[in-house]
Amino acid sequence: MRKNLVAGNWKMNTTYQDGLALVSEITNMVQDEVTGSDVEVVICPPFPFLAAIGKQLPENSRFHLGAQNCSQKESGAYTGEVSARMLQSVGCEYVILGHSERRQYFREDNELLSQKLKAALATGLKPIFCVGESLETREADDTFKFISQQLQEGLFHLSNEEFDQVVIAYEPIWAIGTGKTATSAQAQEVHAYIREQIAQAYDAEAALNTTILYGGSANAQNARELFSQPDVDGGLIGGASLKSRDFTDIIKSF
Ligand code: G3P
Repeated sequence: MRKNLVAGNWKMNTTYQDGLALVSEITNMVQDEVTGSDVEVVICPPFPFLAAIGKQLPENSRFHLGAQNCSQKESGAYTGEVSARMLQSVGCEYVILGHSERRQYFREDNELLSQKLKAALATGLKPIFCVGESLETREADDTFKFISQQLQEGLFHLSNEEFDQVVIAYEPIWAIGTGKTATSAQAQEVHAYIREQIAQAYDAEAALNTTILYGGSANAQNARELFSQPDVDGGLIGGASLKSRDFTDIIKSF
């Protein structure tokens, strides 16, 4: 179901105490300042803090808990892995999958990600599935071809019912952590293309109902223009999600 959504991807940052302090600041600020808006907020802390931070999120509110990854395996002898069921058991509703940092540093390919998607969906988690091109791909004018391949190989094997649970995040790699945000026109162009691809793979209704987030140096200054684009439904925020004032201002940008 399409919605206005802002997700904070804390990546490998904060500690137990700092994370609890940060989420408390964010929830207090947002509850005081964000009124009359239906925007949903997903907090995605590192694994060790999920349960404690989940308990800090106000019940029956706009706040939801998410994880940054999950195993494609259900359970068993996979040292260091975290299953979708474990995430669900501590209150996670969302899980980020296919982030470019997982693809780059941990060699996660579309085949593995299609298995992770199935595991997450089988447990009732909503995947936030990341796609996005490198600067080299963009400069070679191959962005659409690359994004289409990520969607076809990673995502479009899902049934209509499964796909309905998916949120897509377009994160151009060249904009992540660089301060070089995509222009709103660049973001809109790719988001519209992704929606076209969904319409072809499924149908027009699925395309219209899919939430597509932008990620990549989104901040309090550029969020309003980005979120005003017709096919941009919110953001997947990295650095700015670690600062309560900035993150709250992004959430207020609809
Ligand atoms: O997942 C969101 C992240 O990749 C974007 O990072 O720091 O550019 O907002 P940042």
